[in-house]
Amino acid sequence: MRDRRLALVPALLALGACQSAPPLTPAQSAARHPADARLATLYDRSCRACHTSADSGAPLSGDRTQWDARWAKGQAVLLQNAVAGYNRMPAGGQCATCTADDYAALIRFMADRTD
Ligand code: HEC
Repeated sequence: MRDRRLALVPALLALGACQSAPPLTPAQSAARHPADARLATLYDRSCRACHTSADSGAPLSGDRTQWDARWAKGQAVLLQNAVAGYNRMPAGGQCATCTADDYAALIRFMADRTD
């Protein structure tokens, strides 16, 4: 009985992997842009360079495998860390004109939460 239950484990793991979004390549990440033109400009001038580069250490924009654990911290924490800085994430993300609403929208976009 015990052996038969263990045999199900790989099948269940495979099922779980199918249901979650796959990781993005940096090229796929770099191809994404916010739909809103003003937000896209802010994104291009500030967040995009680091957040589409695997070498930067930043979670890749649009990659749920890299953002889901961060999203679980809550939007208020992510906003706070974007504004105040967080390890190698520079305070403000090199955006001189972003408002709190802009940051929140940019974070939603990068974390692939469009709802
Ligand atoms: C100079 C590179 C750089 C730029 C520019 C940059 N980031 Fe980051 N960002 C990082 C790095 C590196 C991390 C990962 C930090 C860590 O987890 O140690 C990060 C992480 C984050 C996180 C996750 C913080 C957490 O609590 O897990 C958010 C949110 C974020 N960035 C938002 C932004 C936004 C919004 C912009 C544009 C306005 C931006 N970043 C621009 C490098 C950058």
